[in-house]
Amino acid sequence: MQSILDEIEKLKKERKAVILAHNYQPPEIQDIADFSADSLELARHSMTIDAKVIVLCGVRFMAEMAYILNPDKLVLLPDETAGCPLADSITPQDVRHLRDQYPDAIFLAYVNTSAAVKAECDICYTSANILEVISKLPKDRKLVVLPDRNLARWAREKTQREIISWQGECPVHQAINKEGIIKAKANFPHSAVMVHPECKEEVVGISDFVGGTGGMLRFAKTTDYQIYIVGTEKDMCHKLKREIPQKLFIPANEEAICEDMKKTNLSKVLWSLQTLSHQVILDDDIRQKAKRAIDKMFYL
Ligand code: 13P
Ligand code: SF4
Repeated sequence: MQSILDEIEKLKKERKAVILAHNYQPPEIQDIADFSADSLELARHSMTIDAKVIVLCGVRFMAEMAYILNPDKLVLLPDETAGCPLADSITPQDVRHLRDQYPDAIFLAYVNTSAAVKAECDICYTSANILEVISKLPKDRKLVVLPDRNLARWAREKTQREIISWQGECPVHQAINKEGIIKAKANFPHSAVMVHPECKEEVVGISDFVGGTGGMLRFAKTTDYQIYIVGTEKDMCHKLKREIPQKLFIPANEEAICEDMKKTNLSKVLWSLQTLSHQVILDDDIRQKAKRAIDKMFYL
């Protein structure tokens, strides 16, 4: 184990590389990362680093975001097959078809979409900023919020805007049930329940806090509870424990595991640095169009 860590460290220096990891990465990857965060912070942080190579430990759309924002850097995804079923639930053709149906609407693309889908949309958003983004959009326009139907429903409730949704959903968050939360709450009656907005309505309805993974971390840091039931991917609890070791974090469902996030391991990170693969490269036209939607989000 130590030798692989030493080897990664040595190659990182030789290659002028940084390792960025999402909060759902396996604990050993979060522990070696130079920076670990939610998808919005990963994208923002990627623009501030002085490095030639970014090893993005996460899934493809996150690596694409890093590449869109840093085309002059080499962006590596250690496992080429690490995707996201939610992102795959919608294609650029689907968006074009929806555009025909709702020609006057503003199209919002979740960060969990391919670059090609972002390129067809007007503005990007993440679970960290969806409400803020919507609050800045003209009140008289319909909104098409793609592709997660739970996130769109939650945004509709919170903003009271006319929102058209897609039928996408995340299998990991679908696996979190009301029963599991009620059971955990019975074991820890003084705990707070935090859930991701990709969760089902019945789960969101019995929670104390709804937000993305960065929001959960802030909520746990700034509230007085000692125990939190965490309704999102299980390894978010590792991130929370690392940052707030004095508190207790209980996954709402131990089986809520994102298989794509777990495709990354130390051997693949080492291999990625040794061979400088798998490089994420996009067609420049798509990159520029997707960047327009992302820049608009940052601007707002
Ligand atoms: P965050 O943006 O909250 O980190 O979540 C990303 C994700 O993939 C949720 O399933
Ligand atoms: Fe995609 Fe769900 Fe995994 Fe997030 S947790 S990357 S939405 S499959």
